[in-house]
Amino acid sequence: MNIDFIILAAGKGTRMGGDSPKVLASLAGKPMIQHLIDTVDSFPSSKTSIVVGYKSNEVERDLVSQKKLRFVKQKNQLGTAHAVKQALPIIKKNSVAVVLYGDVPLVKKNTLNKLIKSASRGKLSMLTFIKDDPTGYGRIIRSSKKSVQKIIEHKDASSAQKEIREVNSGILAIKASLLQQFISKIKNNNAAKEYYLTDLVEIANNHSVDVVATLCDPYEVGGANDKKELHELERAYQKKLAEDLLKSGVTIADTSRIDIRGDIKIGQNSFVDINNVFEGNNVLGKNVHIGPNCYISNCSIKDNTIVYANTVLEDSVIGKNCKIGPFARIRGGSELTEGAELGNFVESNRSNIGKNSKAKHLTYLGDARLGTKVNVGAGTITCNYDGKNKHKTIIADGTFIGSNSSLVAPLVLGENAYTGAGSVITKDVPKGKLAVARGKQVNLNKKK
Ligand code: UD1
Ligand code: CA
Repeated sequence: MNIDFIILAAGKGTRMGGDSPKVLASLAGKPMIQHLIDTVDSFPSSKTSIVVGYKSNEVERDLVSQKKLRFVKQKNQLGTAHAVKQALPIIKKNSVAVVLYGDVPLVKKNTLNKLIKSASRGKLSMLTFIKDDPTGYGRIIRSSKKSVQKIIEHKDASSAQKEIREVNSGILAIKASLLQQFISKIKNNNAAKEYYLTDLVEIANNHSVDVVATLCDPYEVGGANDKKELHELERAYQKKLAEDLLKSGVTIADTSRIDIRGDIKIGQNSFVDINNVFEGNNVLGKNVHIGPNCYISNCSIKDNTIVYANTVLEDSVIGKNCKIGPFARIRGGSELTEGAELGNFVESNRSNIGKNSKAKHLTYLGDARLGTKVNVGAGTITCNYDGKNKHKTIIADGTFIGSNSSLVAPLVLGENAYTGAGSVITKDVPKGKLAVARGKQVNLNKKK
C-alpha cells in the first residue's frame, strides 16, 4: 500500500509569538515538525509532502530527512483544506493520504499504522482527544457513541457546543481518491472565512463514507499553538523520556528535573541526579553516576564513571572508571582514558588524558596529550596559544608536573620527567629530568 503523508506547515503561528514559523519552535531540542518527519521516515513505501508558506525557505532549510521531502507552496494561508489541496497534484491516486499538522508533533508510529489500516478499508479515520480547556479547538459532534457527525470549529460553535471537551487533533487518514473528491466540495462560509479541512467529516457522512474517530492520549496528539501549550507538551514529553529510562533500569532522582534534548542511551544501574540537561547524542554506559546540575552534550561516557556536580561535558569521550568534577569543563573533542581524573575547576580542550592520569585542581589542558599515570599539580596551565596559532603539549608516561607550572607550547616532556612548582617551562624536558624554571629564592635582611 502506498502512503502519502501531507504535513501542514504554512502558517505563521501568531499565537506562538515571534517571527519564526511556529512549526520550527523547539520541542526537546529540535523543531517540533522534525519529530513528525522522524516518525514518518520509518514508514516503508511512503512519500512525505510538506505544505509551506510563511518563511518557507527557513522551514525547508531546517528540516532533515532520510527521504526526499517534497515541499509544496501555499501562497496565501486560506485554511487547512486549502493547504491540503496544494499537495493533491503530487500524491498518488491509489494511496492512503495521511494529514498531519506541523504543530501536533508527538503522534506515534503505532497509532498512525492503525489509522492507515482503517483508512485503507475506505473509512475517514481521525484521532481525537479530551481537553479540559478546549478553547480554540474543533469540537467533535457525535451522533452516537460510535459515529461522528461533524466537527465544529471553536469560532463557529454555539455555547452548548463549546462545552464539548472532545476535540479534533487534526490528524486524519483517508484514501487519496476520496480526499480528492471531497475536498473540492469544501467552502469557506464560516466565521474565519477559511477552507476548513474539518468539513471533510460532514461531507464524508453525506456520501455514506464511515467516519471513525479514535480517542487518544492528549500527550500524543495535543497541539502547540502558544507558549503555554508548547511548554505543556515539552514537560509531558520530558517526563515520558525520564520514565522510559526508569523502566530500562536507570535511576533518575526526579523525573521532572531532567531534560533530554536529543537522543540518549543510558546503561543499567546508572544514576542521574537532579537538574541535568543532555543535548544532542549522548551514550552513557552501565553504573555511571551523574551528579546534580551537569550539562552534557554529544558525549560518550563509559561504565562506572562518576561525574560530580556542576560539570560541563561537550563533544568528548570519557572512558571507564573516570572521575570528573565537581565544576569541571571538558570540551572540544577531549578523550579521557580509563581511570583518568579531572577535578574541580579543570578545563580540558582538545586534549587526550591517558590511563590513570590526573589533574585534580584548577588546571587548563589545551591541545595536550598526556600519557599514562601523569600527575598534573594544581594551577597548571598549558600555554597553547601564541595569539595566532595553537600548539601542542606532549606529556609522556609517569611525568609529574609541579603545582602552578606554565607549560609554554610547543613542548615535549619525556617519560618520568618532573617540573618544579611555579616553573615556566619553555623548553622540552628530557626523560627522567627535573626542570626548574623560576626565580631563585633569596632571603634578605629586613630593614629595622
Ligand atoms: C486546527 C483544526 C482544529 C483542531 C486543531 C488541532 C482546522 C480548521 N482546525 O485548528 O479542528 O482542533 O487544529 O490542533 O483544521 N496551516 C497551513 N495553511 C493554512 C492554515 C494552516 O499550512 O492555510 C497549517 C498550520 O501551519 C498548522 C496547521 O496547518 O501547522 C494547523 O493550523 P492552525 O491554524 O494551527 O489550526 P488550529 O486553529 O489549531
Ligand atoms: Ca494548531
